[in-house]
Amino acid sequence: MCFRGSLWQAYAYGMLKADIPADWPELLAQARALVDGERDPIANAANLAALLYGALPDINWAGFYLLKEGELVLGPFQGKPACVRIALGKGVCGTAAQRRETIVVDDVHAFPGHIACDVASNAEIVVPLLRDGAVIGVLDIDSPRFARFDAEDRKGVEAVASIYVASLG
Ligand code: SME
Repeated sequence: MCFRGSLWQAYAYGMLKADIPADWPELLAQARALVDGERDPIANAANLAALLYGALPDINWAGFYLLKEGELVLGPFQGKPACVRIALGKGVCGTAAQRRETIVVDDVHAFPGHIACDVASNAEIVVPLLRDGAVIGVLDIDSPRFARFDAEDRKGVEAVASIYVASLG
C-alpha cells in the first residue's frame, strides 16, 4: 500500500492492520483440507507452516521442530533461516517440549534462555506436538509484535498442531 497522506494515516493503517484478528475457523478448515488424505510428515508440516505464515497477520516465522534422537531438529518452516538443533529444556521450544504444554511468550527478551533466531521476534507461541501422549516435536510461531498471541490464537495454534498429529495416522 502506498500512502500519499500523512504519517498519521500510515500509523493508523498499521494499527488497524495489527488489530485484524485471524479468521481461525476458516484457517482451520483450510488446514484440514490441506492434509486431507496425506500422511507424509514433512509434506504436511510444510503445507501447514506455509498456511500459517501466509494467513496470520504480524508474524515473522512459522514452522516445526521435530524430535529426533532426543533433541528438536528444524523441520519445515517459513521465515528466516533458524537454529537447527534445540535441546529439550532449552529455549521456548525445548521448554514447551519438555513440559509438554503450550508456552505463550509476550516478550521473548524476558524469557530466560530464549533462543533468538530472528532479531525481529518479540513474541512467540510454541505448542508441543503430542502423539499418544509422547512429544514428537513442536509448532513454533514468532511475531515482531509484543503480546501478539491471545487466548484465541493459542486455541487456534493448538488446533493446527492436533490436525498435524492426526494427519500422521
Ligand atoms: N525462539 C525459539 C527458537 C526457534 S526460533 O524462534 C525459530 C526458542 O527460544 O526456542
